[in-house]
Amino acid sequence: MDDTEHLIGLATEVRKHAHAPYSGFLVGAALRTASGKTFVGCNVENVSLGLTMCAEQCALATAISAGETTLSSIAIVADSALPPMPCGRCRQILAEFNSDLDIITGTINGRSERFRLSDLLPKPKQGILESKQNVSNPE
Ligand code: THU
Repeated sequence: MDDTEHLIGLATEVRKHAHAPYSGFLVGAALRTASGKTFVGCNVENVSLGLTMCAEQCALATAISAGETTLSSIAIVADSALPPMPCGRCRQILAEFNSDLDIITGTINGRSERFRLSDLLPKPKQGILESKQNVSNPE
């Protein structure tokens, strides 16, 4: 089994723990760090709806809490017709740690796609919190 299949398998397993009584849409994520460790997460919904935590965010928080900040890839799995794409918020929070993250998104029926985070979210940090003085500008 290659690493992609392994990550998809872990995401498929953790998906079963999702707390998704409002949408009925269960999602699992498995995040691989540069040191070779894996951290999993599932979506955790809330009655407020707006406070819902995505599977990717849950996996990311677990990795960071373990001191693992160098991310290499993430697999995301749901029971959808097409592989689920990470929401804009998840793209931004993942880009905080690796804007070129390898993203594998798959369905429980074995359909999958692969992306680079930099293609899904270009320039996630440009200009943010930069003062004008720090940017080289010939004018
Ligand atoms: N969801 C995720 O956890 N990750 C995704 O990539 C797509 C969406 C969750 C959030 C919510 O609980 C449910 O799926 C429906 O949007």
